[in-house]
Amino acid sequence: MRVANLNSHNNTTVKKIVNNGGKNMEHIVKILPNQVKDMSLAPLGRHKIDIAEKEMPGLMSLRKQHTGTKPLKGFRLTGSLHMTKETAILIETLKDLGADVRWASCNIFSTQDEAAAAIAETGTPVYAWKGETLEEYWDCTLQALTFDGNLGPNLLVDDGGDATLLIHKGYELENHFNEHGDYPEITTTNPEELVIEKLIRKVHKLNGNHWHNIVPDIIGVSEETTTGVARLVQMEQDNELLFAAFNVNDSATKSKFDNLYGCRESLVDGIKRATEVMMAGKTVVVCGYGDVGKGCAQSMKSYGCKVIVTEIDPICALQAAMEGYEVRTLESVLGKGHLFVTTTGNKDIITLEDIRKMRDQAIVCNIGHFDNEIQVDALNDSDAKREQIKPQYDRYTFPDGKQIFLLAEGRLVNLGCATGHASFVMSTSFANQVLAQLFLAKEKPEVKLYNLPKELDEEVARLHLEHLDADLTILTKDQADYIGVDPKGPFKKDEYRY
Ligand code: NAD
Ligand code: ADE
Repeated sequence: MRVANLNSHNNTTVKKIVNNGGKNMEHIVKILPNQVKDMSLAPLGRHKIDIAEKEMPGLMSLRKQHTGTKPLKGFRLTGSLHMTKETAILIETLKDLGADVRWASCNIFSTQDEAAAAIAETGTPVYAWKGETLEEYWDCTLQALTFDGNLGPNLLVDDGGDATLLIHKGYELENHFNEHGDYPEITTTNPEELVIEKLIRKVHKLNGNHWHNIVPDIIGVSEETTTGVARLVQMEQDNELLFAAFNVNDSATKSKFDNLYGCRESLVDGIKRATEVMMAGKTVVVCGYGDVGKGCAQSMKSYGCKVIVTEIDPICALQAAMEGYEVRTLESVLGKGHLFVTTTGNKDIITLEDIRKMRDQAIVCNIGHFDNEIQVDALNDSDAKREQIKPQYDRYTFPDGKQIFLLAEGRLVNLGCATGHASFVMSTSFANQVLAQLFLAKEKPEVKLYNLPKELDEEVARLHLEHLDADLTILTKDQADYIGVDPKGPFKKDEYRY
C-alpha cells in the first residue's frame, strides 16, 4: 500500500463548521496528519538528511544565525516544492526559525519517499509520495494549504507556482459565482486543468467563501523557479496578484548556480539511472540555451557527446555558437539526434510529428518545469504502443516498428528519474528562499513582485566559499574608490548579468 500510516489517500472533503474570528468557516478538507508512502523509510531518510546537512552550509548557517530569535514564530507556512532530502533541510530550517510548516511536493514524480517519511516522523504535516496521480497531487496541495481551523497560510514557498495558482483560481471562481450565481463553463480539455477546475468547484460547494477568507492572511510567496516567476510576472502585469511575491529564481546565487551547475550534473544522473545508456559519441539535441540549457549542453559535451542547440533568442543562439555548439532548427536535426532534451520553459517544443521523424531508439526527455514541452498526451493518444520498462521509463513502438524512449513521462527528468540537484547547490537556492521568507515576514510588503537585494545575494555566495576552500580577495579602500564600490559590497550594479 502506498500510504503506510494512513487509512487511505482519500482526503475527501468534509463539512464541519468552525467559528473563526466571527467568520463562518466550513472545513474544506479532512485534515490528515500526513500522507507519505512508507513510514518505515524514515531512518534512511534521516541518515540522508544528516549527511546532506554537511553539504548545505548556507542553509545551516542561516539556521544557526536566526534560531535564537525565531523570526518566523507565529507564521503559518505552506510549501509546494519537490519533497527531497534537501527540501527536508529547508523545512527543518523554517521550523527552527519558528514557522508552523505544512508541505506538498510540486511534482508527481519528484518526492524522495525516505525524506518525506523522515519529515512526517517529526510531526510536520507532509503530503507527498513518488508517483502521485494528478488528483492526488492537487489534493496534497490543498492539504498543505489547509491549517487547523480551516485557516490558510501566511507565507508560501512555491516552485512553479501551483500553490499560488490554486489560491488564485479558487478566488477567481468565488468572484465569478458571486457575480453570476453559477460556475463558468469548463472549456479546457487539458487533464490537469480539469482536475483543478473540479477541485475548486468541490471546495466552493463546501464553503463559498473559503479563498476570500484565507487570502487576507497571506503575506506573500517566494517563488523558486523560472517558470513560476514567469507566471508571477504575468499576474502582476494583469493586476491579478493577490499577495506579495518574491522572485528567488533571479538571485544570481540561484539561477546562475542551481539552473546551470545543478542541471549540469543532475540531467545525466536522470538519463543514466533510467536508461543506462553510453553517452560518449552520441548526438544530443538541447532545446533552449538559457541557464538550464547551458548546464545541460556543457554536461553532454563533457561526456563526449556531439551537442546541437536549438534557440529562438539570437543572443543565446550566438552564445551557443561561440561555445562551439552547432545551432540548428529542431526540424533539421530530428533524424540526427540520439537524445533530445527540452530546457525551454515553453510548450510544444517536441511535437508528436517531431517524434515520428526521430531515429529508432531515440531518447526524449525534458528538464524544464512542466511536462508540456513534449507533446506527451498526443503521443499517448497516437498509434504508438506504450510499454513501461520501469516507472518513469517508457518505450513507444510505432506501427512501422520504430521505437522511442520517453523519460519521466515528459516531466523533469532529473527529479523524476534521479534525485534532482546535489545538496550543495540546493543550499544556495534555499538560502535565498529563507532570506525571502524572513523579508516577507518582517516587512509584510505591499502586493508587488520583489527581488533579493544584491547585498544578500553576495552574502549567500559568501556563505558557501569556505566549504569549497575558496579564498576571497579583499578590496583595498583605494581600489574600491577607484572602481566606485563600497569595500564591503555590493560589487556589481543591479544590471550585471554574471
Ligand atoms: P531561461 O529563460 O534562462 O532559458 C530558456 C531558454 O529557452 C531561453 O533562452 C529561450 O530563448 C529558449 N526558448 C524558448 N522557447 C524556445 C523554443 N521554442 N525553441 C528553442 N528555445 C526556446 O530559463 P531557465 O532558467 O533555463 O529554465 C528553463 C526551464 O527549466 C524552466 O521551466 C525552469 O523553471 C526549469 N528549471 C528546471 C530545473 C530542474 O531542476 N529541472 C532547475 C531550474 C529551472
Ligand atoms: N530542484 C532541483 N533539484 C532539487 C532538489 N534536490 N531538491 C529540491 N528541489 C530541486
